[in-house]
Amino acid sequence: MGKVVATYTVRPARETPGGYRCVSDSDQVRALTHAPTFYFYPPVNVSLESATEILRDSLSEALVIFYPLAGRLHWIGGGRLELDCNALGALLIAVESEGKIDDYGDFRPTPEIRALIPSVDYNKPIDELPLLLVQLTKFSCGSMSLGLGISHTIADGLSALHFISEWAKIARGEQANSPPFLDRSVLLAPEHLTAPVFDHPEFGPQPLLIGKQDNLEERKRETTTLMLKLSKDQVEKLKDKANKDRSPSDNKRPYTRYEAIAGHIWRSACKARQHESQQPTLLSIIVDARNRMEPPLPPRYFGNGTFRVTAETTSGELVSNSLGFASGKARQAIEKATHEYLQSSLAYVKCQEDVTQFRNFHTVGCAKGAFYGNPNLEITSWARLPIYGADFGWGQEIYMGPGGIGYDGKVFVFPGQGQDGSFVVALRLQVRHVDAFQKFFYEDI
Ligand code: COA
Repeated sequence: MGKVVATYTVRPARETPGGYRCVSDSDQVRALTHAPTFYFYPPVNVSLESATEILRDSLSEALVIFYPLAGRLHWIGGGRLELDCNALGALLIAVESEGKIDDYGDFRPTPEIRALIPSVDYNKPIDELPLLLVQLTKFSCGSMSLGLGISHTIADGLSALHFISEWAKIARGEQANSPPFLDRSVLLAPEHLTAPVFDHPEFGPQPLLIGKQDNLEERKRETTTLMLKLSKDQVEKLKDKANKDRSPSDNKRPYTRYEAIAGHIWRSACKARQHESQQPTLLSIIVDARNRMEPPLPPRYFGNGTFRVTAETTSGELVSNSLGFASGKARQAIEKATHEYLQSSLAYVKCQEDVTQFRNFHTVGCAKGAFYGNPNLEITSWARLPIYGADFGWGQEIYMGPGGIGYDGKVFVFPGQGQDGSFVVALRLQVRHVDAFQKFFYEDI
């Protein structure tokens, strides 16, 4: 898809604190992946060579501040990791492509889009893998893309975006003025908790299709990605619909746009997957704990300040009830994430002899690790994340989105470019469910 014209290992511009650092109990159960995202820029009047130089110099400065990203992970037993702040650096690749931005259609994460982000060979020892990989690609039409892979053990979405925003400031010649809080020990399980105090279905086995003993067959099914747009009017319609039949226990606060959209996706997926009505189905949601902890996590906490929560019901209940029922289930899951629950969740991780089984391996068709495919879903919201505005000195991006969606049932919901109230729903589904899903998704609004 292009010619690599330069490869650099970018190290911090100055000496940074060294030594081994713990990662938190929240970090320990993250997918063993480099979360892939990418930005597309309109035709710019800057050569690939000078854009790469700007990126390389500014990244070197940014890594002085965000030095954990220049380090390496290593195993410490029990499937657990530790961070070695050894300043070995990040990978930066410059690529010249014959292609044009129009070749990428609606920017759904295809293998061609994935090729705009450096790939990682997970067969290599983990302490050889950079935690940050960057690829700048210049297309024949003059447009550029910036593809990023950031270790999910080291940063969640908010932390990754914080890093990108500070790096971009440096690239523009501005002062980085919003330093990260780097002490992950604030998200270690509290010492007084020797065992979890809640049940934690988010760590338990997920429902299987009725009659099946495992999900191996489902993992092997052919899947594809979809990118569905919801206009502002469609989003408002869904929100009104969800709130029309709000359950009495949720009367205190209307369902949000995310809860309405997530409920709608869940119902549409159950219909498209043609489940039996008794089929159990689980919805998994990532919640940001930064302001749910008491006291809140320190401002600009850098790491995984996010936790998983789940809701479970049957397909029959979801399909036969109105949208408010599905949104209510999503709401109940989110409301579980109190300070006490999140502390208990950290204790759950601490108490495990081996955490390997909780890690999700984000490779399409991979048979290892957690799996939220048929009959389940994982719907991640980027609705309040500052995903837009990565200006490295050559202007605003025209698009930002996920560069890969790992497995069947994984969904990202994020605001459309231009902050016009529209939303984008990007997801991976089994090919055999795609047509029916799209039909229900748009017809049921
Ligand atoms: N500041 C304050 N309030 C805002 C806001 C802003 N920037 N933007 C929206 N709101 C208000 C709106 O009223 C919105 O409701 P609406 O969407 O119906 O208009 C409401 O706050 C949304 O509240 P929120 O608490 O975000 O609920 P939600 O239902 O939209 O989302 C979660 C629920 C769990 C997804 C969300 O709380 C969360 O944790 N998001 C972060 C997920 C994350 O980190 N993803 C990346 C994973 S790597």
